[in-house]
Amino acid sequence: MSIPKHIAIIMDGNGRWAKKRLLPRVAGHARGVKRVKEIIEHCSHIGVKYLTLFAFGRENWKRPQTEVSFLMNLLLEQLDKEFLHLHEEDVKIRFIGDRSRLDKIICEKIEVIEKLTNANKKLNLNVAVDYSGSYDIIQAINTVLAEGKHKNITREVLEKYLLTYPNPAPDLFIRTSGEIRISNFMLWQIAYTELYFTSKLWPDFNKQALDDAIKWFQTRERRYGKISEQLE
Ligand code: FPP
Repeated sequence: MSIPKHIAIIMDGNGRWAKKRLLPRVAGHARGVKRVKEIIEHCSHIGVKYLTLFAFGRENWKRPQTEVSFLMNLLLEQLDKEFLHLHEEDVKIRFIGDRSRLDKIICEKIEVIEKLTNANKKLNLNVAVDYSGSYDIIQAINTVLAEGKHKNITREVLEKYLLTYPNPAPDLFIRTSGEIRISNFMLWQIAYTELYFTSKLWPDFNKQALDDAIKWFQTRERRYGKISEQLE
């Protein structure tokens, strides 16, 4: 059975997970980080080649300052601990998104990790921070215009400037927590992606839950606009 080459995940429901337990919202994020680690390891283990995680969206700055700071500190902590450790697991880590609003210390650590893991081969991990799909498309267009090399923007040209280039498009998109929305994640890249929504909250999304999503994916017939016979 085919394992999706690229999985993209919106890790939603941390706040609700905490609320159900009468805990502060940030306790859900802290628990969510544990699942991040489990899911990265599991993907690497089963042969997924690309994993893109939505860690912080461009609209997330509008959350209470205390929550934004907590999430940024959590990221900083992961940069120092888990992400460094992933180098030993042959994981190539890349951060996609706008770096201009991130703290200098976060940007520096991101650059160190990207350099350190650049030649790694087992799993390509993209962590989306201050990211949105529309931001990605607009930055791609602006870079093409600034370079002035292309007269026309074609699909092939634009794709080379997306932050996920040269990764293939996701095969499987997962959103936890029961919301049936894309929420401005990878708008361009998911044109033909299989979309999987689960009511499980992110802190409850364990490797078994990922296996269930993959089993569902394996039942899908991917047609890319063709009819079934043309695929054979
Ligand atoms: C959505 O849940 C989750 C986020 C906005 C943050 C996701 C972050 C993590 C899982 C931890 C940090 C990850 C890394 C890679 C360091 P929500 O708060 O919107 O939940 P709710 O919809 O129930 O309120």
